[in-house]
Amino acid sequence: METWDAIRARRNVRQYTDQPIPREHLERILEAGRRAPSSMNTQPWDFVVVTERDDLRELAKVWEHAQHVAASAATIALVAPVPGAEPPGARVDYDLGQATAHIMLEATDLGIGSGHAAVEDQERAKRLLGFPDDRYCAYLIALGYPADRPLRPIANPTRRPFDEVVHWGRW
Ligand SMILES: Cc1cc2nc3c(=O)[nH]c(=O)nc-3n(C[C@H](O)[C@H](O)[C@H](O)COP(=O)(O)O)c2cc1C
Repeated sequence: METWDAIRARRNVRQYTDQPIPREHLERILEAGRRAPSSMNTQPWDFVVVTERDDLRELAKVWEHAQHVAASAATIALVAPVPGAEPPGARVDYDLGQATAHIMLEATDLGIGSGHAAVEDQERAKRLLGFPDDRYCAYLIALGYPADRPLRPIANPTRRPFDEVVHWGRW
């Protein structure tokens, strides 16, 4: 898919078919995340990839709006330093957003749907994912082939109007 098409086709997909994602496509999606830019190249992220159905069901319990994780083909947990343990120069939330965008756009490029989820229950996430004490699970990105409709460029996305958002030269 062209980059411009992928940007317009990406949307939160929360219903997935049973089709597994080939390992090489999962690796390409993760590689896209690994290549994301970060403040001073600190790369303050680790990716834990969950594909076992029982684990996905357990992971879906970390936040009331993470139910879609249970039916995903795979979910990437974005793990980051706890506040206070960041590497010098890190801008962790901004950097995680960059990695997320790379991951989601590459998934879209491959026809794979993706859906964000926040994480509330850190203890449950840590028990399942096994990350160390100086890390927390910042977000989940669920992946799977869309069960609702294929990914196609969206003509009219639910966004504020261009002329309201964009200020040329000065507000
Ligand atoms: C930081 C962040 C956290 C989000 N958390 C959730 C979540 O916990 N559950 C969920 O279903 N969607 C979550 N979303 C998805 C947003 O609701 C979604 O991106 C927004 O409504 C725009 O829709 P679209 O992605 O389909 O264009 C999150 C998005 C972001 C950027």
